[in-house]
Amino acid sequence: MKKKNYLGKTSIGGRKLQPETLMMSYGYHPQWSEGAIKCPIFQTSTFVFKSAEDGKAFFEIALGLRPEKPREEPGLIYSRLNNPDLEILEDRLTLWDGAEDCAVFESGMAAISTVLFEFLKPGDVVLHSEPLYGGTEYFLGQVLPRFGIHSIGFPACASHSQIESILSESGRADKLTMIYVETPGNPTNALVDLEMCSKIARDRSTSSRRVVVAVDNTFLGPLWQHPLKFGVDLVLYSATKFIGGHSDVIAGVCLGSHELMQRVKNLRTFMGTMAGPWTGWLLLRSLETLKLRMTCQMKSARQVADFLGEHPRVEKVYYLGLLTEKDPQFSVYRKQCLAPGSMISFDMIGGEAEAFRFLNSLQLFKLAVSLGGTESLAEHPASMTHAELTPEEKSRACITDKMIRLSIGVENHEDLIADLQQALEKA
Ligand SMILES: Cc1ncc(COP(=O)(O)O)c(C=O)c1O
Repeated sequence: MKKKNYLGKTSIGGRKLQPETLMMSYGYHPQWSEGAIKCPIFQTSTFVFKSAEDGKAFFEIALGLRPEKPREEPGLIYSRLNNPDLEILEDRLTLWDGAEDCAVFESGMAAISTVLFEFLKPGDVVLHSEPLYGGTEYFLGQVLPRFGIHSIGFPACASHSQIESILSESGRADKLTMIYVETPGNPTNALVDLEMCSKIARDRSTSSRRVVVAVDNTFLGPLWQHPLKFGVDLVLYSATKFIGGHSDVIAGVCLGSHELMQRVKNLRTFMGTMAGPWTGWLLLRSLETLKLRMTCQMKSARQVADFLGEHPRVEKVYYLGLLTEKDPQFSVYRKQCLAPGSMISFDMIGGEAEAFRFLNSLQLFKLAVSLGGTESLAEHPASMTHAELTPEEKSRACITDKMIRLSIGVENHEDLIADLQQALEKA
């Protein structure tokens, strides 16, 4: 039985243990489960109370009817509210981002939509970076307007003053309630300055309207970028990607302060968007190798990006590791990213025909959308992940017919380069 306040050993002789060490132990004691070294799957919908008094107390705490008494343990009630696999997973996920609290969802979109619904109401405005993941773009552009919520986009590389003028020209600046950012942007790796977004939010907040900053950290997190350190309020993930890491689970994550996460978890309970125990268990397993996988993927991606950068059939490579001091984005990269990650896009010489010939010639890379898994993937953003964008939106986001997006897996990087080499020759 999980004890809410048990976290286990977090330091040895004054040395604070690192997240990759704690992924095997944090928040779980084998004595709770017959000595099982791994947390079992609590595949149950409901939990039996020892007494009616216990059941009453658990509900009082869960519904916020009274504060917890000192040393009182909130108990398990029903798996839509809480479940040991999810609670242990949520505790472990807080470690990477240095967050107070975490909520896990059944998909990245479930996390994103629950957060947007919790913090926005009719008449409110959400200011967002462009481009965004297509599902988020659709939710902001097609779903939220049905509830009277407006969205205003700004290009990922826009400066503070450009964003302020976009906001002022909209005529709705006084209704700003959320800044929603995806950085690096998909598929070009364009960066948004998180510190700048936090400043805009602080400057625009009033006593009656707090502007909340939410960041989709799927591309670089939880290893290579920690947005909470730059004053943002909420971090979101499609855990389907690096956190899950094996292309076999769909899940989402939101992290932030106790205060904000209480609100997110409350709406999650009533929308029923939480993840189930099996998803929770799979992600616990994935977290044990997160650092190994992401480090290997990032190191290989550097080699692949260097190879592409020098190939005569490649016009331009979009990879954070290739930014130089001359690039206006370099200072943002140095400030907020710890490594360039493993997502690479590149423009081929030619157009859609050449790009398709290249994709159809790959033998090791799989032709599929998604990213962050152990296997390397390749796709064509203009006709696949970003097909719904208008020609103007594509051109603003630098998405061309000759662009290919790669997600680098854990294969031998020389094997990956051999595959790219032969496919580029056939293109
Ligand atoms: C950056 C980003 N955010 C969010 C999502 C949505 O996540 P999910 O597919 O887990 O719902 C995706 C999916 O591809 C994504 O790439």
